[in-house]
Order: sequence, then C-alpha cells, then structure tokens
Amino acid sequence: MMTAICFVFLVGLALVLARFLYKSWWYPVSLQLLMKSQGIKGPPYKAPNWNYAKGVLDMEVKSTSAPMEISHDIIPRLFPQVYSWINLYGKNFLHWIDTQPQLVVTDINLIKEILSDKEGSFDKVQLEGVLKKFLGGGIVFEEGKKWSKLRKVANHAFHGQNLKEKVPAMVASVEELLKTWKSYEGKEIEVFKEFKLLSLEIISKSVFGSDYLTGKTMYHMLDEIVLICYKIIADKFSKSSHELKVADHILQAFVDSLVGIMKQREDKVKAGQSNNFGSDFLGSLMESHHNTDQNKRISVVEIIEECKTFYFAGHETVRSVLSWSILLLAVHTDWQDTARKEVLEMLGQGNPNIESISRLKTVGMILNETLRLYPPLVFLHRKVKRNIKLGELRLPAGMEVYIASLAVHHNSEIWGEDTHLFKPERFAEGVAKATRDQLMAFLSFGFGLRKCVGFNFAQMEVKIALCMILQRYRFTVSPNYRHFPTLVMGLWPKHGIQIMLHPL
Ligand code: HEM
Repeated sequence: MMTAICFVFLVGLALVLARFLYKSWWYPVSLQLLMKSQGIKGPPYKAPNWNYAKGVLDMEVKSTSAPMEISHDIIPRLFPQVYSWINLYGKNFLHWIDTQPQLVVTDINLIKEILSDKEGSFDKVQLEGVLKKFLGGGIVFEEGKKWSKLRKVANHAFHGQNLKEKVPAMVASVEELLKTWKSYEGKEIEVFKEFKLLSLEIISKSVFGSDYLTGKTMYHMLDEIVLICYKIIADKFSKSSHELKVADHILQAFVDSLVGIMKQREDKVKAGQSNNFGSDFLGSLMESHHNTDQNKRISVVEIIEECKTFYFAGHETVRSVLSWSILLLAVHTDWQDTARKEVLEMLGQGNPNIESISRLKTVGMILNETLRLYPPLVFLHRKVKRNIKLGELRLPAGMEVYIASLAVHHNSEIWGEDTHLFKPERFAEGVAKATRDQLMAFLSFGFGLRKCVGFNFAQMEVKIALCMILQRYRFTVSPNYRHFPTLVMGLWPKHGIQIMLHPL
C-alpha cells in the first residue's frame, strides 16, 4: 500500500516537474529558436526569468524618477527597454514577460495585417487580477457575436445624428467650466485636473442624459475603485482583503444606482409617460435589452459593463489629449495665435457648432499633432488565437503582440528627422499626406474593426473645448510646470499641467 502511495506521489511530482521545465525552459527556448530562424531576435530568455518584469519596471522607474526638459522625445524616458531593443534588434523583436512571449511590432505592414484581421486570428488581451474583477468587462474586452452586438449599439449612439445632438451639451459643459476659470484670471491654473471634471461631465451626459448628475456621482465611485485597484497592485504583498471589500461595496452602490435609473425609465414607459427609454447611450442599451430578437438582446450585466467601460474609455483619454494640447499651445504660442485667429475669424465670440468645428483646419492639425506626440494609449495589445502566418512570420497561438504605437508615432523614418518636434503643419494636407500614405503610422484611435468607437465624439469634444478657451484666453507655461510625461491609465502629465491664464 505504502509503495503504491509513494509511486503515485513520485509520478505526480515528475509530472509537475516536467510541466515546470516545459513552461519555463523548453517552450521559451524552442520558441526563441523558431523566431530567430525567421529573423526575429530579442533579449535572450533567461530561465526561469521571474525577475524580468521587475527588471523592466526598475529600468522604467529609474528613467522617470525626475522631470525632464520640455522636449517631446519621450520614448527613451517612458520605454527605455523598447527604445534600446528597437535599436539593437530591429523594428520587431521578441521579449518575455516572465514566461509569456511578446512580439513587439513597429513594422507598418505587420501592424496593418494585425489590425485589419477579419478572420478572428487575434484576441484582445484580457486584464488580470483585481483589474479584471472590477474593470475587465464590456465591449473593449469582448469578442465575436457579443462584441458585434455591443458595437452596433455604441456605433449608433456615438455617430451621425446622435453625435450632432450631443454638441449643445458639450458646449454647455465647457461654458460652465470656463465660468469657474474667472477666478484664475491672471493667475496659474492646473488644467489636467480641470479637464477631468469636464470630460467626466461630458461622458456622463452622453451615457446618462438627463440623469447625468446621478451618473457623475456614479462615475466618481468608479474613480474610487480605480484608486483602490492601483493601491492593491502597487502593494501586492500587503493584505488587500479590506480594500477588496471596500471596492466590492462601492461597485454594488454603482450597480444599485444604475438599476434604479433603469427601473425609473422602465416604469415611465410602462405607465405611458414616455415612448422610449431615453435618447442617451443608456437609453440605446435599454432599447436593446428589450429587443424581441434574442440575438440582439443585451443583458443587464452587459449594460452595467458598458456603462463602466464608457467611463474609462470616454474620459481619461479626452482629458489627456486636451491637457497635452494646451501645454503644446502654451509652449508654441505662435501656433496658439494662429489657431485663435482661425477661431475668431470663423466664430467671433459665438459658440461652435458641428459645421464650424469641421471647418477649423488649424485646430484639427494641432489636435492631430498632439495625438501623434502624446497619444493617450501608447500601445495596442493582442493575443494570437491560433497558429497563424503574419507576413512571412509563423506565430504560435498564445503569443502576445504588442503594437508600439508611440514608437511608430516617433519614428523618424516615417515622420522625418523633425519627428520629435511639434509641427502641426505636417497635417496641413491630411493624415494620408502626413504619413506618406501609410495610414497605419498614425494609430491614436487604432484601426480596423476595433477602431475607437468614440473617435468622432472625442475629436469634437477636444475641438469645442480648445475653441472656447482660445476665444477667451491667452495662456503661457507657468514657471511651476515640470515636464513629467508618465504612464498611469494612459500617457499622463505626472504633476499636472500648470499654465498662466491671461484673459483677452
Ligand atoms: C482622444 C480620445 C481617445 C483616444 C485617443 C482613444 C483611443 C482608442 C484606441 C486606440 C482604441 C483601440 C484600442 C485597441 O485597438 O486595442 C479605442 C477603443 C475604444 N474607444 Fe477610444 N479613444 C478616445 C476616446 C474615446 C471616447 C470619448 C469614447 C467613448 C465615447 C471611446 C470609446 C472607445 C471604445 C468603447 C473602444 C473599444 C472599441 C472596440 O473594441 O470595439 N474612446 N480608443
């Protein structure tokens, strides 16, 4: 009997050991050889490589431990490893995050192939741990039929006539914000904080319509959850059960508020006081929830996930672009003057509308150049779903693909020797001319089926805000500003953006 137990134990142990050796040695080494035989090199895999991620992190922390001069050459600082490895190993290289292989891609043709994929060869990379639990659902992470159902609703809500109807609400929100700026006239103002409030209010209006004040409170709850998640991640060896409980509690409060709003809307329809669930995004989601066609129907859980997703996707990104564009205009006051001249000639002191916004050429060029130098999302992430061919490369299922958008945006082979300079004139004849017909070189909003659904909405919001600020103020960089681009939930200014506000 004892011998049998020992035998089973030894077989079990051998299997665990074999699995360990396969995962942490055989698979990485053989994959590295396979990729090398196809011309893809990279930093050598070191078994078991557990400290790799920490090493990279240390390199990044070191490179971002102090502010830098105001320069837009930010890759060596933000991604020292990507920067040095591109120089060492070429446009595409293989590296490892622990035992996970990751192909870093900056080659335009490969990027085009990945993002144009219609065969479902790539999956989105899912969040992990607490981030997955609290923030990992919704359209951004869905695939297949579920994704396509959600995408249709979102496309409808954020394009065409629906988008047009959102303009007055955006203008009203900027007007409200600028009223509060009166107390800063002649003084310093920190705009990154200001634009958080603005973008949160605007996305809240779009998702929750007339219920946006409750929506805003709900979105502040998500802010708290994000902070808790980051605290747990940063301090992973501490006991996090208390924090988790708090986050659970906040999420429940969010869900209760949302279900409450939905119930009120349903009651109104039932009582005949309204013939729809609302013209906002929540209304569109509820319409789909009540769809008689099972294939188009959206569950309550999906509605909750969508409302959470649009909070993240829809405000931190806009906030970041708006802030960087104000910094760039505060540094390059010649462009600020040109943009203001355009705005005043077209609108005088009147409010922007959808037609005038689309005719603001200089403002559009400035926005594109800001998105090129400081894209809020600095990479796009995919996972190879099955063994595939990508260009001439054979990639195995499970390999991650990391499209280094920021590196592409700063590539001098594409953009010229002046790539790190702020030169909106490169977009004077549109994106195709600026990229010499390589549209994939400008990845701020992604490309293909998964391109940003809020693409037009975001551009409109930023242009309206810029326009209305330029109509009222001249601004310069405050002596207190420290240039500190950093990666948090996107490309953020670590200590905010302080400008001096001069009324016109
Ligand atoms: C300047 C602001 C913005 C930038 C730079 C931006 C950028 C992006 C990028 C690069 C992607 C593609 C991600 C990928 O392929 O993995 C994306 C997707 C997405 N964005 Fe945006 N975004 C912005 C604003 C917005 C806004 C305002 C909304 C909502 C109204 C929004 C909603 C989404 C959603 C839902 C997706 C996922 C689409 C899908 O997977 O089908 N974004 N965004």
